[in-house]
Amino acid sequence: MHKLLQRLILDHQRLAVLLNILERQLNAFHVGNEHDLDLVCELVDYIKAYEDQVHHPTEDLIFAHFKELTQTFTLIETSNIPETLKTIQNLQEQHQILAGMTKRFHNILDAVMQGDVIPRQEVENQGRSLIQMLRNHINLEEQEVFADIDTKFSSEDWEKLEPNIPEFANPIFEKPDTARFSALLRHLVQTQ
Ligand SMILES: [Fe+2]
Ligand SMILES: [Fe+2]
Repeated sequence: MHKLLQRLILDHQRLAVLLNILERQLNAFHVGNEHDLDLVCELVDYIKAYEDQVHHPTEDLIFAHFKELTQTFTLIETSNIPETLKTIQNLQEQHQILAGMTKRFHNILDAVMQGDVIPRQEVENQGRSLIQMLRNHINLEEQEVFADIDTKFSSEDWEKLEPNIPEFANPIFEKPDTARFSALLRHLVQTQ
């Protein structure tokens, strides 16, 4: 598999770890156990920064190129390209939806941090919907489209895309930003 797809899968694996932490925090929040709001805010801050600015834009470039390439295919009746194209369209729409959901959850957490009275259920529901949607989205990409993209793209296709791929070191797993993500980095060290 091409290294860019491998990087996207690594991003997914890292995100899955963070979603499990977020879910455990929401479970504690639900039953009134001790939870760490700073940690939750940093998790959502990371998702907002990395997913919106690096991960999804990278996928959008790859998806757009796949669409461009396959528009010229004529022998599609013997392949699963139409199905993959439909799924890619769906995934692109999900990127927009996920950006909106993440922004709303980020805003509601900001309001909680500032002392606004927000129903607990509302915070929890938004968090759980975001976790579920991200998990489904990752599964769909890995199970339905990445292999087809890897098969269809030549090395020239990848070379054409590479200069436009956002370069941004992962602020948790590659170049830890200890000021911005102190609670999250501490939590990862403690739970390793
Ligand atoms: Fe995606
Ligand atoms: Fe993805």
